[in-house]
Amino acid sequence: MDKLLTPLETVAVLLPALVANGAPVLLGGKGTPLDRGRRFLDGKPLLGQGKTIEGTAVALLYGGVVAVFVYSIFCKGSVLLGGLLSTAGAVFGDFAGSFLKRRLGIPRGSQLPVVDQLDFYMGAVALLYGAGLEPDPRIILIMAPIVFSLHLATNKLAYKAGLKSVPW
Ligand code: CTP
Ligand code: MG
Repeated sequence: MDKLLTPLETVAVLLPALVANGAPVLLGGKGTPLDRGRRFLDGKPLLGQGKTIEGTAVALLYGGVVAVFVYSIFCKGSVLLGGLLSTAGAVFGDFAGSFLKRRLGIPRGSQLPVVDQLDFYMGAVALLYGAGLEPDPRIILIMAPIVFSLHLATNKLAYKAGLKSVPW
């Protein structure tokens, strides 16, 4: 399998991560917490109520569908693999962000700038490289501020639509 991804293929494999990150918001904040209320060694919530079983399932499903969709355009195995990896990486990056926020004592839904906007993106990129794929590093860097701005804008929209209780 050709592990080197062109600039366009790099954009394509990162799209599922964006969709996976945005999809759980559509549930409107309901669901069973993944950590089921468990606490970490520091006595604070492991992940908190913002990471649910339903939200995670929706993220994996929607991301997976977009991964298959981009594969149908490029017809290249590494694009399918990359899309699935970036979906899983986005979910794990988001978990890592929440885990970090809880360790810092930041409650669910409160802000931790940069981590809130880019945890999923960093998770997706990390898993792509971790699995030996070679996305275009220039695209990764160019997309970071775009993803950051997009995250701010879409969260404001979700707030106005009544899907989120805070505008970030
Ligand atoms: N969500 C979910 N399951 C996930 C990820 C997100 O149910 N795995 C839903 C939750 O309703 C969450 C919303 O999507 O409130 C927005 O996600 P996010 O901003 O990542 O969560 P926060 O509520 O801000 O929680 P945290 O402070 O842990 O980031
Ligand atoms: Mg948040």
